[in-house]
Amino acid sequence: MTTVPRPDVTDRFRELLDRLTEKAIEDYYNPYQRFDWADHLDEDQWWMSPELISVAGTAQAERLDEATLQRLSKWESINFYSLNVHGIRELLMEVVNRIHQPGFEAPSDFFHHFIGEENEHMWFFAEFCLRYGRKIYRPPVVAALGPAPLYEPEVENFLVFARILFFEEMVDHYNMAMGQDERLCRTIRQVNAIHHQDESRHIAFGRELVSHLYGLMRERVDEDRLREVEAYLKRYIVFSVNSFYNPEVYRDAGIADPLGLRAAVLADPARRVAERRVIRKPMAFFRKIGLFTDDTLPVG
Ligand SMILES: [Fe+2]
Ligand SMILES: [Fe+2]
Repeated sequence: MTTVPRPDVTDRFRELLDRLTEKAIEDYYNPYQRFDWADHLDEDQWWMSPELISVAGTAQAERLDEATLQRLSKWESINFYSLNVHGIRELLMEVVNRIHQPGFEAPSDFFHHFIGEENEHMWFFAEFCLRYGRKIYRPPVVAALGPAPLYEPEVENFLVFARILFFEEMVDHYNMAMGQDERLCRTIRQVNAIHHQDESRHIAFGRELVSHLYGLMRERVDEDRLREVEAYLKRYIVFSVNSFYNPEVYRDAGIADPLGLRAAVLADPARRVAERRVIRKPMAFFRKIGLFTDDTLPVG
């Protein structure tokens, strides 16, 4: 059996690729001219929708006054855009490694748009962090996820694009809400709305590609392997969700016991409900294609 994924894709996928490539060309903009960067963003305003900050809904949040919550929303937003910067860098490396390689002939044209757009997203998220936060937070520690196991190429390809899709869908949940939240200033709304517009193409593409790669993976590996892949992807989901509870953010917001707050917030059942809202669509997608046998997630 060949270890190289077959390049043949369905007509439906080909048509989608053509449509999305055309749309990427039509919607193309110059990111270096596109944004109305405010000179300064005041601290006493919401930088992130209050329902989306990591303490929302918890007993701890009720003990914080509005000024602290707004300051927290500032650093949570810098953390969110920092996670984007690091997430994009990692996904770009994987896509660049695969473009014009056997098995990826069909999406290679769209990959060029994807790579170009993601480079620009990384730029505007970094720009936001540096302009208004004077820093980019460090990436979350991958050790928490455990070592990446060595799998068959079909599994590796599936996991790379499944992770990218999950990440994009998770981020999009925030972008969609914040892009139209009137409580947020114009600069913040604009960054989120523009990213959402590009990401809707990436997500439509990702869903089709991940379904295709899932089919190739299933032909290659047995049931035990599929269950390992399910477990691995679920660990990745929990790891990603947990990266929103950053003690450095709590410290920057002036909270006295950042690690204590993190532990208390993580233990609050209200967060499981909030997290499920964020990951609802990708969880349903992985059920639909047949990889996830249930909705459970490991305890982080
Ligand atoms: Fe992006
Ligand atoms: Fe994207």
